[in-house]
Amino acid sequence: MKIDDSLLYDFESGLDPQHLNRSAIPATIVGYGEISAIFQINGNEACVFKRLPLFQEQAAAAAYEAMYHEYSNLLIQAGLCLPEHETRIISVPDRPICLYIIQEKFKGERLCNHLVRTSDESYSLLLMEQILSHIHKIWIYNRQASQTVELAIDGQLSNWVYSKPQGNGRLFYIDTSTPLYRKNGVEQQNPELMLKSAPSFLRWIIRLFFLKDVMTRYYSPKLVYTDLVANLYKEQRPDLISSAILLVNRFLFDEYEPLTQKEVDHYYREDKLIWTLFLAFRKMDRFLTTRLLRKQYEFILPGKINR
Ligand SMILES: Nc1ncnc2c1ncn2[C@@H]1O[C@H](COP(=O)(O)OP(=O)(O)OP(=O)(O)O)[C@@H](O)[C@H]1O
Ligand SMILES: [Mg+2]
Repeated sequence: MKIDDSLLYDFESGLDPQHLNRSAIPATIVGYGEISAIFQINGNEACVFKRLPLFQEQAAAAAYEAMYHEYSNLLIQAGLCLPEHETRIISVPDRPICLYIIQEKFKGERLCNHLVRTSDESYSLLLMEQILSHIHKIWIYNRQASQTVELAIDGQLSNWVYSKPQGNGRLFYIDTSTPLYRKNGVEQQNPELMLKSAPSFLRWIIRLFFLKDVMTRYYSPKLVYTDLVANLYKEQRPDLISSAILLVNRFLFDEYEPLTQKEVDHYYREDKLIWTLFLAFRKMDRFLTTRLLRKQYEFILPGKINR
């Protein structure tokens, strides 16, 4: 990948996170993360830039960068395909230090959420099966007897790209910017960093009630599969849910009770409520920060999301 470092520095210097159209170097948002915003920057059409405005110090950004590369390499070892990627740390005076994760850019129409929305039943289920078999590789990796590393994965449809450059398609996993993995049972991600994107007035309650749940759910095969199937509601394909449940139950290890429609519905209702509330509170926090405190709010929030 060809990355122009001075372009990236100029982009960060000229960026007003709340008024992207006033940005000195034009850019478009291609996706929103809970923590990162994902840009395409004019002048580089081949890459996406994931901006993490999280750090007070260079050393903290460098530690996150190392963790990112380690997690990416472990996912590859476990058998996943990742897009080409690189990182840069950008430090502009009087701003938080940003880590940029740069990935090869895929066409929006190759994202699996888009494919599942627009394809017929048999193709969509084939894609679901492919995704399940890739997630399954992670659990197999974690279960190797000699293994001291445990990987987590967020299996949502929007985290997968089915690309077919020449002929045969390949499934890529793109959501690598929030590494979650344990070494000898110790979580490597710093939960306080994940809390940075949450409103300050909510952090204590999230720390108390939700953080552990959010940090552990991606290690659980059944919860990751449940999340993926519940995702079909968000992608407006409830018609695929019963068949997807049958697929999941083929992959689920014997120690789990089979997944049921009731569990999927319950999970979906709860998850939708939590994320809708969370986004509403972040918008309130943005209002307080920019209008009342007259400070810069670093995160870029999506508009209304149909869940
Ligand atoms: N390499 C890419 N090519 C094209 N689009 C991408 C690429 N990476 C991300 N996107 C778009 O941005 C969306 C969010 O990206 P990603 O999954 O990496 O972030 P996220 O889910 O918000 O992660 P996090 O919360 O960890 O920051 C994707 O679903 C997709 O629409
Ligand atoms: Mg994602």
